[in-house]
Amino acid sequence: MNSRTVLIAALALSAMLSGGAQAQAFDEYSGQETFMRFCAACHGESGQGDGPVAAGLPISVPDLTRLRQRRGNQFPEEVLRKIIDGQETVVVHGTRYMPVWGYEFWVEEGADDAAKERVEIIVDNLVEYLRSLQR
Ligand code: HEC
Repeated sequence: MNSRTVLIAALALSAMLSGGAQAQAFDEYSGQETFMRFCAACHGESGQGDGPVAAGLPISVPDLTRLRQRRGNQFPEEVLRKIIDGQETVVVHGTRYMPVWGYEFWVEEGADDAAKERVEIIVDNLVEYLRSLQR
């Protein structure tokens, strides 16, 4: 699967898991709701990298509950914001399997200037949710 196919599979799956909820402004979702909808397919509902789509990827999906531990007990807030948004390259073997969320959410939110602000809120909510998952 290429990354685009994987993304579509992940989104289809998350739509199924969430019972086909109607389109909504995702900046009004909590970080947890956004995570369950867009991230859990790969990263797993608990964030440990064991979502159903993960098995179909040629690389392992990182455990998001140990981000702080792996960085010497510092939660890497700014780095995470950039990784999720897509400005920070996290390519392991030449291809980024993680969708570029800054772009995907911007399109979802209407692809204009106001959408940029909503993307920042969405990413902030996700980062705060990830903070709550650290062990
Ligand atoms: C299609 C599967 C997939 C989906 C969906 C996905 N990720 Fe990822 N994610 C990955 C993979 C694979 C990596 C490892 C880096 C890479 O290859 O892109 C990764 C890396 C990350 C990292 C870096 C972790 C580290 O150890 O440095 C973060 C943070 C992250 N993802 C957050 C998210 C968030 C938040 C969402 C939902 C908005 C999400 N991911 C959705 C597959 C996915």
